[in-house]
Amino acid sequence: MLLEGKAAIVTGAGSGIGAASALRFATEGAGVVCADIRLARAQETVDAIVAAGGRAVAAEADVRSAADNEAMVNLAVQHFGGLYAAFFNAGTIRPGNAVRLSEDDWDVVMDTNVKSIFLGAKFAVPVMADGGGGSIINTASVSGLRGDRSGIAYGASKAAVINLTRCLAVDHARQGIRVNAICPGAIDTPPIKRMLASDTARDGAGRAHPLGRIGQPDEIAAAAVWLASDQSSFVTGEALVVDGGYSAASNPIEMGDPRPQGLRRPPSA
Ligand SMILES: NC(=O)c1ccc[n+]([C@@H]2O[C@H](COP(=O)([O-])OP(=O)(O)OC[C@H]3O[C@@H](n4cnc5c(N)ncnc54)[C@H](O)[C@@H]3O)[C@@H](O)[C@H]2O)c1
Repeated sequence: MLLEGKAAIVTGAGSGIGAASALRFATEGAGVVCADIRLARAQETVDAIVAAGGRAVAAEADVRSAADNEAMVNLAVQHFGGLYAAFFNAGTIRPGNAVRLSEDDWDVVMDTNVKSIFLGAKFAVPVMADGGGGSIINTASVSGLRGDRSGIAYGASKAAVINLTRCLAVDHARQGIRVNAICPGAIDTPPIKRMLASDTARDGAGRAHPLGRIGQPDEIAAAAVWLASDQSSFVTGEALVVDGGYSAASNPIEMGDPRPQGLRRPPSA
């Protein structure tokens, strides 16, 4: 049990990576605040955790709101006696290039993906410090490492998450708080399922990852638990890439690349 008796928060816990991670944190012994803007979905995750013998409570929280971030940290203190691990994972995407993307969509993406982490840390850090330390994990993306077509807001936001992570790590290391990010490749969650609705699109996305498939939410949850636990006690300020080799390829195939297979370099194996 890597998180035995610890208190944790997971945002975006009603679906995908957040739901899988909340379950995994609870399996490792943590009491988990499952926060989501969709309360009913957060409650479903709580129900699954409780059914498996774990401890969890749901929080309706819009991560763009300071008051909701404060309330979710307070809930962890009330229910589980403090806060040790916070997985700031909720995020959103709005496609578009500079000409097409609306100003409102830019703001939604930056507030949901970046400002949320600033606000989460604002309230989580003092409580973690009071308890002797803790671990913050932020969901970035491989889209924060290089430029995706028609993804300016998402790409800029996830690059910002990576450097915000480093800044937080440096600021709060002496309080015993480690701060790391995870950069997932394509992971099989509802938004990706919608994007890859056809077999061709799904195969194409799989081929873009050298391991030959997209990832599963549990594979990100495993990385999040490791970063939350003492197993990673000398790791801080890191952006851990969990992408089946997607960003390692020197001649990456873009997901959704319309070129016929013959125009690409042959596979190495
Ligand atoms: N799935 C992927 O391929 C992938 C790849 C890289 C990064 N990510 C990132 O992983 C994170 C989780 O994505 P996912 O694929 O699991 O998506 P998802 O849609 O399955 O889950 C996201 C959850 O966040 C919640 N949410 C959205 N806006 C919110 C807000 N303002 N306040 C509180 N909750 C809010 C949603 O209700 C949803 O339950 C996101 O930050 C996303 O950018 C996903």
